[in-house]
Amino acid sequence: MIKIALAGTSGLSQYIAHYISTQTSHQFFFLSRTPNPGLTAKGWQVLPVNYDNLDDVRYKLVGVDTIISTVTGPAQLSLIEAAAEVHVRRFVPSEFEGPLLQRPATNDPLDRGQKSAMSLLSEKRDQYGMQFSAFSCGVFYERFYPGGMAALQLGAGTYICGEGDYVVNVQQRTAIIPFHSSSDVCISMTSAEDVARYVVAALDLPTWPDEFLLAAERMKVDDIVTAIEYFVCGVEFQRQYVSEEFLTSAISYAQSTGNTSETWRLRHLMATLQGRYDFPGASLEQLIHDPPKQFVDWLVAAWCAA
Ligand SMILES: NC(=O)c1ccc[n+]([C@@H]2O[C@H](COP(=O)([O-])OP(=O)(O)OC[C@H]3O[C@@H](n4cnc5c(N)ncnc54)[C@H](OP(=O)(O)O)[C@@H]3O)[C@@H](O)[C@H]2O)c1
Repeated sequence: MIKIALAGTSGLSQYIAHYISTQTSHQFFFLSRTPNPGLTAKGWQVLPVNYDNLDDVRYKLVGVDTIISTVTGPAQLSLIEAAAEVHVRRFVPSEFEGPLLQRPATNDPLDRGQKSAMSLLSEKRDQYGMQFSAFSCGVFYERFYPGGMAALQLGAGTYICGEGDYVVNVQQRTAIIPFHSSSDVCISMTSAEDVARYVVAALDLPTWPDEFLLAAERMKVDDIVTAIEYFVCGVEFQRQYVSEEFLTSAISYAQSTGNTSETWRLRHLMATLQGRYDFPGASLEQLIHDPPKQFVDWLVAAWCAA
């Protein structure tokens, strides 16, 4: 049995907590900036933390074996510093996106401090022996959830957590599809719940690679739109195909007019077009017994329940 700290209380953290509590005998608690009575009402322990106070972070982490972080930016850097100093054995950084190697080496427009976190983790591994592994899962299915990711307390930090913020707007029956003249634009995807199952199953592995690649399904973006048309709405959407040139100039315009949410929405489309979430051959099944949900099954279940 190990002790696990879940940093942050977003929907992903809560899925992970659910699977730790139902599938393992490990102890866990959340670290949060706020008391979160909703989580304590579920019988889960929530420890308050002030990420600006390294002594406080160190104190909260004494005796912890593994940290699973969903926090980004300076808070995560402080968590990594403190974790290494109190000899935490393993650290899962707040990644859960496309593969590390498929990001721009410099000036990544989607970086919310993850690059610095990975560098600091490498430094701390060399200095203190703290292991780490990023779980690269592609796009969450939940981007297509009714009400958007926000309905599941997910994605607030990504600026695209509202319904219709990524590719498809079901209410307006429209889709904005990144387009290449030379090849299909594809994304690899997993449900956040299956990502949580995978992370929890990996806790018992004796060794970790620096990165786990997992994806339940790889689909053409065009086919995702078709699936949503067919299984959710039963009508065809108005499709707008957007090229790299179009997105480049739209991003410049959104930036110049100070439209932050539009800038980030377009940046995610550009990242999709540039193949950032497209990786083949990753499988969840070596670690988890029940197969991960396929996109269409997840979609139908999500929208039937809405
Ligand atoms: N692949 C995908 O499609 C996809 C989509 C969305 C998210 N993700 C990934 O999922 C993970 C969670 O992302 P998210 O957007 O749901 O979470 P988020 O909004 O970035 O927040 C995660 C946690 O960070 C804490 N937090 C928020 N603002 C903070 C601040 N200013 N200082 C310190 N802590 C702060 C909050 O915890 P407390 O309030 O409890 O302190 C929150 O629960 C990330 O790793 C993200 O990359 C992936």
